[in-house]
Amino acid sequence: MLFLQLPLLLALLPGADSEDGFQEPVSFQIIRIFSFYNHSWEHSLGSGWLGELQTHGMDSSSDTVIYLWPWSRGNFSNEELMEVTRLFQTFFIRFAQAFHNHAIQWMLHYPFEVQIAGGCKLRFGEASVGFVQVAFQGSEFLSFQNNSWLPSPEGGEMAQLVSSLFNLYQGTSEILHRLLSDTCPRFLLGLLDAGKAYLQRQVRPEAWLSPGPSPGPGRLVLVCHASGFYPKPIWVTWMRGEQEQQGTQRSDVVPNADGTWYLRVSLEVEAREASGLSCRVRHSSLGDQDVVLYWGHRSSVGWIFLAVTVPLLLLAGLAFWVRKRWTLCQPASSHLPLE
Ligand SMILES: *[C@@H]1O[C@H](CO)[C@@H](O)[C@H](O)[C@H]1NC(C)=O
Ligand SMILES: *[C@@H]1O[C@H](CO)[C@@H](O)[C@H](O)[C@H]1NC(C)=O
Ligand SMILES: *[C@@H]1O[C@H](CO)[C@@H](O)[C@H](O)[C@H]1NC(C)=O
Repeated sequence: MLFLQLPLLLALLPGADSEDGFQEPVSFQIIRIFSFYNHSWEHSLGSGWLGELQTHGMDSSSDTVIYLWPWSRGNFSNEELMEVTRLFQTFFIRFAQAFHNHAIQWMLHYPFEVQIAGGCKLRFGEASVGFVQVAFQGSEFLSFQNNSWLPSPEGGEMAQLVSSLFNLYQGTSEILHRLLSDTCPRFLLGLLDAGKAYLQRQVRPEAWLSPGPSPGPGRLVLVCHASGFYPKPIWVTWMRGEQEQQGTQRSDVVPNADGTWYLRVSLEVEAREASGLSCRVRHSSLGDQDVVLYWGHRSSVGWIFLAVTVPLLLLAGLAFWVRKRWTLCQPASSHLPLE
């Protein structure tokens, strides 16, 4: 089944056809975070993620799914979405109840936090892999593999108790297994297809240079910024001529609020060696037209300043000269004739 879908996947995945053969696995997962306050009260947050993009939210008061994009329903019918949502709601209610019911036995002290992430991952040429990971107080605790729960070593004795309890519920494990191995990859592929126009868009980076904080006398940090681009893969580096410079520092590629990305790449140099260095930006949206910015060229802001101020000064001079001529030709007390 999945094999038949691989050509489709190849066509859909961002960056799949880029020249360096860059191939990223793609995943869909649901994340649920439970904060247990006391033996009768917990609060939870839920979300759905296609890779690093949030596609679903949750209204905590009504425990209903919020579809964040017009394509967040993928190709599922309303009936199937309702059925899947109901299965998850039941699963999460039982999951939370188990912690409350066994709080004393498992020696849990309120308040505590439990995070659960589950979904599926697709990679070229491989079958879909389902996963569920549970963390307790931020540490790995349990995972779900091949139809059964496994305690993580970090979870200690408590994780063993919890997994052996969960493994008693064979029916629930089978439903979970089916959701991960059948429903999830189908939904993921449908989502990639429905969201194609958005997911495969190309947005060009804006690039600029700035000095970084001074590292010491006679030295400079040159910073090259690239922002507002999509998709995420980008190549930015400092060059001298065609020579890539060693020692460039690359920040993480971090998200902007509008779903595009930002990156900065800096290089520390001797101040006298700075001129002639350039920052080169390569991105799928630019085709083979890399953006190249040279350090030490008079910035365009400077040119705009000159381009605006020089004519203004000339105009002011002209106005002054005309006015002077005018007053010389007029009798000192008269006003401009209005009729
Ligand atoms: C549990 O915590 C909630 C929220 O803090 C509070 O309103 C409620 O009274 C608590 N219940 C008990 C039994 O302590
Ligand atoms: C998964 O579990 C089944 C039995 O539940 C077993 O037959 C199979 O070998 C297991 N597969 C893996 C990869 O562990
Ligand atoms: C949705 O699309 C996927 C991938 O093309 C397909 O396998 C599935 O049958 C489609 N429909 C449903 C309801 O999952």
